[in-house]
Amino acid sequence: MAVERKVLVVGGAGYIGSHVCKALAQDGWVPVVYDNLSNSRSWSVRWGPLEIGDIRDKDRLDAVLARHRPQGIMHFAGRIEVGESVQAPFDFYDVNVHGTLTLLDAATRAGIEALIFSSTAAAYGILETVPAPESHSCEPINPYGRSKLMAERMIADMGVATGMKWTNLRYFNASGADPDGEIGEAHRHETHLIPLAIEAALGRRPSFAVFGHDHPTPDGSCIRDFIHVLDLAEAHVLALKRLLDGGPSATFNLGSGAGASVLDVLKCLGDVAGLAVPTHWADPRIGDPPALVGDPSQAMAALSWAPRRSDLASIIGDAWSWHTSAFFTHSAFTG
Ligand SMILES: NC(=O)c1ccc[n+]([C@@H]2O[C@H](COP(=O)([O-])OP(=O)(O)OC[C@H]3O[C@@H](n4cnc5c(N)ncnc54)[C@H](O)[C@@H]3O)[C@@H](O)[C@H]2O)c1
Repeated sequence: MAVERKVLVVGGAGYIGSHVCKALAQDGWVPVVYDNLSNSRSWSVRWGPLEIGDIRDKDRLDAVLARHRPQGIMHFAGRIEVGESVQAPFDFYDVNVHGTLTLLDAATRAGIEALIFSSTAAAYGILETVPAPESHSCEPINPYGRSKLMAERMIADMGVATGMKWTNLRYFNASGADPDGEIGEAHRHETHLIPLAIEAALGRRPSFAVFGHDHPTPDGSCIRDFIHVLDLAEAHVLALKRLLDGGPSATFNLGSGAGASVLDVLKCLGDVAGLAVPTHWADPRIGDPPALVGDPSQAMAALSWAPRRSDLASIIGDAWSWHTSAFFTHSAFTG
């Protein structure tokens, strides 16, 4: 009988984690999701078992790791919204830092060999070089970015002490949805640009707020680097296999390498949807860098990976299909 190859996917019921679970299953792994469902729902766990638990719960983590004996851990769980982090820093340090430390402790006891961590472009702060390489200075400008950078550093320190291999993946703007329509972005409290713009286009929100009109960018709106969630998912599977094959620990950017402004996104969405997005200008948000674009060349070389679906039209087309699907409109809000 073939031995099941398991991965513990912490936060795997969430947006990015659920797409990675599908990619893991397609590659022959059993993704075991560990999630407290604070920002997701159980319907997104479709490719392996769901273990409900909090990342700060040491005993529960120990029990789940002992039961499933995974070969590696992917760690997506966390508080994710920059603005909330300014209002409630305690919660962000508690989940993102204390939670990660608790997971690292449990992983060490369980003898886990490989850990993949969801880090963020917010670890950089204001970019001096665009696109930013991984060697760019890290001076995060909000508690969210600081909490993720602290987690990165704890992981690296624990790796030195225990021998556990790690890959910190700094995502830029995850976006798009599974083109098969099985899963997509469905946060309990949605704050991400493309879903909010789609909701405004569909009349589910009165209007879409463009934060700041005089940023130092060509059209005055913020510039972001949108990376399709399918491209992210593929990179995670490759990163895990690289570590288990003996590859070294590393930090990689996962972005497309190209920036698009908020106004570019609204224009593209208008073209895809065939209707204009109602918008209004709002004050710039505290802690919102004007431009965040990453250089993904190190990940491309080390993982033999390339963003394949991260052009704006594919991202917005897939997101639009998901947000207008009967499944999303039924499940996301009631499931
Ligand atoms: N979405 C992006 O554009 C983006 C960009 C950069 C980095 N990231 C990082 O990627 C990761 C995943 O992001 P996402 O957009 O899929 O977010 P998400 O909120 O959809 O997923 C996070 C999951 O973690 C779970 N979770 C939260 N707190 C938990 C806790 N205390 N214990 C157990 N589970 C808990 C949530 O229920 C959710 O299912 C996050 O760590 C985020 O910081 C995301």
